[in-house]
Amino acid sequence: MAKSLKAKQEYKNKIRLYKKYSQKYFEDSVSIISDYEFDLLKKEIISLEKKFNFDDPESPSRTLGFKPSKNFEKFPHRVKMLSLANAFDERDLINFEKKIINFLNLTKNFEFEYCAEPKIDGISASLTYKYGKLIRGLSRGNGEEGEDITINLKTIADIPHYIEQKDFPDDIDIRGEVFIQNNDFEKIKDSFANPRNAASGSLRQKDPKKTSKIPLKFVAYTFGFSSDQTIDKQTDFLIKLKKWGFKTSELNKKITGIKNLLSNHQKIEKKRFELNYDIDGIVYKINDFDLQKRLGFVTNAPRWAIAHKFSASKSVTEILNIDIQVGRTGALTPVAKVKSVNIGGVLVSNATLHNEEEILRKDIRIGDTVNIERAGDVIPHVISVDLSKRKKDSKKFIFPSNCPSCGSKTIKEFNSLTKKHDAVRRCTSEGFKCEKISIEKIKHFVSKDALNIDGFGKKIVQNFWEIGLIKLPHDIFNLNFERISKLDGWGRLSVDNLKKSIQKSKNISLDKFIFSLGIRHIGQENAKLLSEFLKKKENFFRLKNQNYIHELINIDGIGDTQINSLKMLFLICQNY
Ligand code: IVH
Repeated sequence: MAKSLKAKQEYKNKIRLYKKYSQKYFEDSVSIISDYEFDLLKKEIISLEKKFNFDDPESPSRTLGFKPSKNFEKFPHRVKMLSLANAFDERDLINFEKKIINFLNLTKNFEFEYCAEPKIDGISASLTYKYGKLIRGLSRGNGEEGEDITINLKTIADIPHYIEQKDFPDDIDIRGEVFIQNNDFEKIKDSFANPRNAASGSLRQKDPKKTSKIPLKFVAYTFGFSSDQTIDKQTDFLIKLKKWGFKTSELNKKITGIKNLLSNHQKIEKKRFELNYDIDGIVYKINDFDLQKRLGFVTNAPRWAIAHKFSASKSVTEILNIDIQVGRTGALTPVAKVKSVNIGGVLVSNATLHNEEEILRKDIRIGDTVNIERAGDVIPHVISVDLSKRKKDSKKFIFPSNCPSCGSKTIKEFNSLTKKHDAVRRCTSEGFKCEKISIEKIKHFVSKDALNIDGFGKKIVQNFWEIGLIKLPHDIFNLNFERISKLDGWGRLSVDNLKKSIQKSKNISLDKFIFSLGIRHIGQENAKLLSEFLKKKENFFRLKNQNYIHELINIDGIGDTQINSLKMLFLICQNY
């Protein structure tokens, strides 16, 4: 009982999240999580439903996406626009086939012929042609009714307005994917999270002139309603689409048997980053239309098709440059600037290389083709270099021996505990002499776990620093609000809000105050230990006294390293 109650709670939570994410995505064209995570969430909900017989009107097994935006007129789709079930591995594919074999009552080893098509990560659209003339274009909407976005779709060069071939059906809905190529996305990437959001946002513009400015593409792959059906196979239909003047994917392929599906999947996954558009898997469709008809649909997906997704966490890309970032404690972190790749719906253009040793160990160079991984919310990292793709003129990367920000000497400190030198190289300048360190210290000072000043994000710190409004952390308490209100993007309301949150931050707890100072070796845990011992802010300032500071050695968890850091802080403070 308790177990099922817990599962019910989990189920409700997942439905709530699903609703939130789909609402954001379908109504505001914003992805809060990656597609992979979204698909997994759907899968988890459906598996809980199966196991515990749960049901909910908002469940993805009942609804297709969210209701269409209010801005466009709605029309029903003559044939529902369906979704696809997902497969993540070979086992899922075997299960998919088993179900079909049972449904059709075929022998166990029956080998199906499939049409394998790349799953382009865009926005689907349905185009109605009557007597060869494009009369209406609908978005998918909720699958049953879509938004009339004809005027916007007509701005896409790949979408023919008239089709004159004799064998083109008199009345047909041609369906396919609208998307933006990566090179075109590069030019507008500051305004959108990823290419798919850009395509979606652009299609839903009220003003078609704005849509026409974003170079959208269209690839056709299926039909909805059709007044005549003389074609027998999906692969033949794709050939016809091309003949009628539609673009189709050059990666479409006729394939028999799961083994061959898997090797095709592997091959395409590897060269995915060479394509100029994002694909997030391969769609397998039973090729024979008669079989498709016999198989029919489950609630909102065909029984005859499945999307085999790519790994959500790994991809291949090229290192364009290696930047050295300087952190709050002076640590130099090498970051690879990579050719943008979509990993699980998130566009990745940076990957951490951790430290100098990591670069040496993996011999990572500018221009290398590398395997990168993005797991959860952590910064993507380079797994390995593909040496077979290394250019002949490539050169070993030389890690700078001076700080790229202030030019000071850098060192690898000796760790007395491990009796080894640190892997991390650090800038040796103290206090606020190094520009990058100072900015990072201020960012830390105002951050969520420190002073938690609402509306004082990293970009604002950077901007205020560049125009000389702040140079030291305590400058934030003497801001020139008159000047700020004249800056771009600042209105009376936002200045007032900033003033209020700075005022509020003056009343923080002692542990948060200590943590906010960004003292080396004093993280949140040590700040708590110190504040429990010191009790009041006044006592913290008494630590300037050499005798008093040594009392800290009585705290479990605080040792010479932390005490020396605090001493350094008070020494530096004398200069400011
Ligand atoms: S077939 C009845 N073919 O994937 C089958 N869909 O998850 C549904 N998609 O809404 C459509 N490439 O936006 C099909 N070659 C392809 C596709 C494809 C991308 C998208 C489409 C659809 C979604 C289903």
